[in-house]
Amino acid sequence: MADGNIADVQAYWNRRPCNLRHSKQEVGTREYFDEVEERKYFVEPHIPAFAEFAKWKGKRVLEVGCGLGTDAVNFARAGAEYNAIELSEVSMELAKKRFDVFGLKGNFVATRGEELSKHFDLASFDLVYSFGVIHHTLNPVEIVREMRKVIKPDGEVRIMVYAKNSWKDAMIGAGFDQPEAQSGCPYAYTYTPEEAHALMEGFKITSLEQDHIFPYVVEKYVQYEYEPQPWFKAMPEDMFRALEKRFGWHMLIKGKPV
Ligand SMILES: C[S@@+](CC[C@H](N)C(=O)[O-])C[C@H]1O[C@@H](n2cnc3c(N)ncnc32)[C@H](O)[C@@H]1O
Repeated sequence: MADGNIADVQAYWNRRPCNLRHSKQEVGTREYFDEVEERKYFVEPHIPAFAEFAKWKGKRVLEVGCGLGTDAVNFARAGAEYNAIELSEVSMELAKKRFDVFGLKGNFVATRGEELSKHFDLASFDLVYSFGVIHHTLNPVEIVREMRKVIKPDGEVRIMVYAKNSWKDAMIGAGFDQPEAQSGCPYAYTYTPEEAHALMEGFKITSLEQDHIFPYVVEKYVQYEYEPQPWFKAMPEDMFRALEKRFGWHMLIKGKPV
């Protein structure tokens, strides 16, 4: 992993916002955003179940690192009072555009997760949500501390970080894979369950699960074709699911402030 600072992290995600190529339609159009959503939840079907969008109707939600805003629009559509921060202005502008296109209301702040309490009232959010974000910054624990400050005493945190004991980490270690679609990601930390507990200081973890193995042939996937790798194709579906639950790349953490 390269040495870097927050400017490197920002430059990386500005160069290639997450999921930017999830559709071939013209970027920023309704068709584009619809296809981005369809592909994201096709490839990562565990996300809606983890976020439970409908649960947050009428609740104050803060998303840390909203990216292009796929989960964002689903929180807003479900009736949440939606707020987001994002380090990459390029990503955030697209998320804002997406809200305009669909006539949704949301509050977007261009800042980093390390500075939440400078921008939001303390103890003010029912849900602080962050999917695949905090492991990409220099010191993720700083973001967790900030999350703890802005969450209500009876609020909830839901975050996804990358799992160390995972198929993907093994493949990266063996030189067959890389953490992100584009190479050169400055930081992509991975966690064991014990390390996740240390990361989540100030919270009691109420649920910790692993999920998600990307099964497709990358050369086909970038052509929008979904052909499983031969070794996954040969595997019965319930066996593949068992593998995902044991060696998934996504560590899904839910917690309550203590
Ligand atoms: C893998 S993408 C995930 C985006 C979105 N959550 C999703 O699921 O599509 C990682 C995002 O984290 C953002 N990010 C990285 N470090 C950050 C920080 N310190 N504060 C806020 N956002 C950050 C990046 O700009 C990028 O948009």
